[in-house]
Amino acid sequence: MVSRAHRIAIVARTVRLVPALLVCALVGTACGGGVHGTPGGSGVRDPYFPKAGNGGYDVTHYGLRLDYDPDAHHLTGTATLTARATEALSAFNLDLLGLAVGKVTVGGETARWNRAGQELTVRPGEDLDRHETFRVTVHYSGAPETVTDPDGSQEGWLRTTDGALALGEPTGSTAWFPGNHHPSDKASYDLTVTVPRGLRAVSNGELLSERTARGRTTFVWRTAEPMASYLATLAIGDFGISRSTARDGLPVYTAVDPAEKEGSRAVLARIPEVLRWAERRFGPYPFSSTGAIVDRAADVGYALETQSRPVFPGAPDMTLLVHELAHQWYGDSVSPESWRDMWLNEGFATYVEWLWQEDHGGPSAQATFDAVYSGDHFDTEEAGEAIWEFPPAEPPSAARISDPPVYWRGAMVLHKIRQVVGDEAFGDILRGWAAAHRHGNADTADFTAYVEEQAPGKDFDGIWEDWLYGEGKPERA
Ligand code: TRP
Ligand code: ZN
Repeated sequence: MVSRAHRIAIVARTVRLVPALLVCALVGTACGGGVHGTPGGSGVRDPYFPKAGNGGYDVTHYGLRLDYDPDAHHLTGTATLTARATEALSAFNLDLLGLAVGKVTVGGETARWNRAGQELTVRPGEDLDRHETFRVTVHYSGAPETVTDPDGSQEGWLRTTDGALALGEPTGSTAWFPGNHHPSDKASYDLTVTVPRGLRAVSNGELLSERTARGRTTFVWRTAEPMASYLATLAIGDFGISRSTARDGLPVYTAVDPAEKEGSRAVLARIPEVLRWAERRFGPYPFSSTGAIVDRAADVGYALETQSRPVFPGAPDMTLLVHELAHQWYGDSVSPESWRDMWLNEGFATYVEWLWQEDHGGPSAQATFDAVYSGDHFDTEEAGEAIWEFPPAEPPSAARISDPPVYWRGAMVLHKIRQVVGDEAFGDILRGWAAAHRHGNADTADFTAYVEEQAPGKDFDGIWEDWLYGEGKPERA
């Protein structure tokens, strides 16, 4: 079926091209193209989320001003995106789910727009040139939605006992700001949030200011390093704040729901220790601050590695803390090129858990690998079998991008590489991979090519074929 946005795009393309061709014919010049824009795509051809992201531009910065009233469940927002056109554009799309759009401007001039599902098509008064940097501002408001993922989990805008929590993996960020919602387009963020006095608003990066006037408090947050939109978060509610520093004065900012305070204290106090260990193993921590957000377990069903400040559903244990901090290197700094590449996030974060245990008096990664392979690691036979259901690099559908094979078999791929190259070269690969794609994106083919480059003369074909891309349980090597 052709979507409405797509039909509009086709019509617009035809209408635009005819006069251009006529003018070229009449004047008798060879019109070079590139002067006349065409609409950008409504997605970036993600294999699992075809409507996620948009074609024709790259966002470099999001400036978001939000005002939220939890009692009324009403959000008012102004989003100003700075972007660069990657082709000449007559129109471009943003992703935005629900909410009412008011005025839209491009370069300060009112722009026409229309909506179809989560696609907001913006038509500037004048075409944008290829490579032109432009600013688009969207005024919007309404009741932000909770999104149910293909796998049944809840993301987007979650209402909590005392406020709200915005979570965005894989597509929930569409529920609270318009943008290019695909991990391949990373940008810096400035977020200004106003909430009723007495509540706090906690986000990624650094808190620049906090000011109360007329019964409302405004918090200003900044994320200077590139961030995929699924890693943006906003927690509104009653939080106990703790500030400290890790190595070299790296700011640690934790926000904990009072109900989770006692249970969280000991584990969160170990954030600097985990980072010190991880920097030794994986290279420099990639962001300019760290911390955690702990909300009530009843309000959120899972943890998420939101950039610089992961979110936890209640007090985390050490393994979960290590997992989410590991993602800061693998997932947040080195981000997936598409949602097919999830094992580069989850397989790595799982393997980092094994390494942490190995370095802290627990079982070796080899012992963990063996127990996972045999099924002994799992409580039930079904859980042990589930990890063989599909190859980690090729989940069968969007509903399964965070299923057990992505985590466990993904981690096993890394261990198989370690067996081939040895501990030292493997350490170099983990550090080198984080450095090679720092603050960027990478896919599975980039990773296999990188490993092969780092270990000339070694043969990884069997690992790729059996462990990464192969169906079923591999023969033990
Ligand atoms: N990334 C989260 C973690 O492991 C888990 C998760 C939550 C997830 N939502 C998801 C993974 C959506 C893939 C897709 O810490
Ligand atoms: Zn994870």
